[in-house]
Amino acid sequence: MKHHVISFANQKGGVGKTTTCVNLAGALSEKGKTILLVDMDYQGNLTLGVGLDPGDSRPGMGDVLLYPEVSFREVIHPSVIPNADIAPANLDLSKVDINIDKRPERHGILHDKLHEVKDNYDYVFIDCPPAFNLLTVNSLSTSDGIIIPIQCYPYSLAGLNTLLEIIDDIRYAYNFDLEIAGIVPTAYETNTRIAADVLSELHERYGGKVYDTIIRKSVKVAEGPLHRKPMVMYARSHPVSQAYRELAEEFLRRE
Ligand SMILES: Nc1ncnc2c1ncn2[C@@H]1O[C@H](COP(=O)(O)OP(=O)(O)OP(=O)(O)O)[C@@H](O)[C@H]1O
Ligand SMILES: [Mg+2]
Repeated sequence: MKHHVISFANQKGGVGKTTTCVNLAGALSEKGKTILLVDMDYQGNLTLGVGLDPGDSRPGMGDVLLYPEVSFREVIHPSVIPNADIAPANLDLSKVDINIDKRPERHGILHDKLHEVKDNYDYVFIDCPPAFNLLTVNSLSTSDGIIIPIQCYPYSLAGLNTLLEIIDDIRYAYNFDLEIAGIVPTAYETNTRIAADVLSELHERYGGKVYDTIIRKSVKVAEGPLHRKPMVMYARSHPVSQAYRELAEEFLRRE
């Protein structure tokens, strides 16, 4: 196994980070893999997407990051995915960035806390916010892999370049183990020329880093939050669900 702790990251919003995180976890769970999901985005979409309410008063990632006395174990809850647990986002997560800003260990808090639980799971999946804030830095500082969902539009390529530069900076500053596990084309529009062009440009520039599996655009995906479970669970035979299962297979082959 190459990667154990994997961040789903892209500073661009709405590119499919959370959807990919939750459905890849759902598809891997079907194959008997165990996963710890960590919601590092105060929007709480991952938390909601696996059946919990980020507005609840239950302890969550905000507590782990803000309070030294709270252990990671205390914020782990069962999720709607059979083999996956969730460390949920909660309201306090939005206060973390400002409150840990002055602490010398601010970049490595997640790394230190995650240590006690990460070996209980085959994979730890961290859903990052659409920003380069301390929550993202904490996530990348403790990950050995990063999965980058990207939509095939021309601007996405420029954004990807910036992201790769920042990943390099983090690698040198905090975490030499960090590698690109793969780039996933998401919400792909089969009927547009521009999407095809951008996809071939992606392959040309980043070659083997780009997964062969492509996740197509479908309105069915947007229902996910209503069902509060991954699409691979509520629309099992939909082409997008099948694609996420293919992605899981490709992921395991590469790992
Ligand atoms: N393959 C797809 N086809 C159609 N819509 C999709 C697809 N994948 C994701 N979406 C929709 O696009 C929106 C953004 O997806 P998602 O929340 O996964 O992105 P994100 O990168 O996590 O966003 P954020 O940056 O806000 O955290 C959601 O409404 C989701 O349902
Ligand atoms: Mg998200």
